[in-house]
Amino acid sequence: MEKAIEMKGLRKSFKDTDVLKGVDFEVKRGEIFALLGSNGAGKTTVVKILTTLLKQDSGTAIVNGFDVASKPENVRQAISLTGQFAAVDEILTGRENLIMIAKLRYLKNPRQVADDLLKRFGLTDAADRRASTYSGGMRRRLDIALSIVGKPQIIFLDEPTTGLDPEARIEVWKIVKELADGGTTVLLTTQYLDEAEQLADRIAILHEGRIIASGTLSELKKLFPPAKVEYVEKQLTLEEIFLAIVGKKEEK
Ligand SMILES: Nc1ncnc2c1ncn2[C@@H]1O[C@H](COP(=O)(O)OP(=O)(O)OP(=O)(O)O)[C@@H](O)[C@H]1O
Ligand SMILES: [Mg+2]
Repeated sequence: MEKAIEMKGLRKSFKDTDVLKGVDFEVKRGEIFALLGSNGAGKTTVVKILTTLLKQDSGTAIVNGFDVASKPENVRQAISLTGQFAAVDEILTGRENLIMIAKLRYLKNPRQVADDLLKRFGLTDAADRRASTYSGGMRRRLDIALSIVGKPQIIFLDEPTTGLDPEARIEVWKIVKELADGGTTVLLTTQYLDEAEQLADRIAILHEGRIIASGTLSELKKLFPPAKVEYVEKQLTLEEIFLAIVGKKEEK
């Protein structure tokens, strides 16, 4: 099975707002896929549907070969979600948070699992402090560590670096790249174009309820040939491509 995620003709409305109006995209196994969109575009809605937290009105979503609507249990076994807002228990220490999740996942040696993840995420020194004393970056790292307890095959990261300083963002990017290098499929949402540019193997732009462009960064760049400025080729940034695509749609 080559595809990790497949979404086809997906629609979702809340009362009279049509948020998703037929969303189609695919994520290959082992790739980092970025879903890009402005505030309110529907990124979290897509993630919630794929992680079985919300039901679509119509269309299909397949995760790890299972239909999210009819086989949610099978989907849940293969995935984990780091939500837009941290799931860390503030009263517990970093170590206790990890042990708790390892126990909930029935892993054999929860202490060892926690120790390994603390080390991998650079949290060993802070392991026995309450998570409420962690900085935003540390909390985010703990959050991602919690979501990979039990080695899920597909991880969903909803705006993993929003609110982090540049250094903490680079740290999170490194973690995400390492996960993908280890064979994990990553779907992340972001409003940061440089994040998608840095991290993603493929990018999809969600705008007004549909995917209006998708592909690798170089494929997206090809949609807009480089502008010639005094005989020097200017490579477009993803930001320029994004604005050009979104702007073009709005002119219609
Ligand atoms: N439970 C809900 N009830 C009503 N409207 C909702 C609900 N959840 C989301 N919406 C609306 O759906 C739209 C898409 O929301 P969503 O959270 O998916 O956007 P987003 O792309 O994740 O935005 P952000 O970048 O701000 O996180 C918004 O207009 C939002 O107000
Ligand atoms: Mg969101």
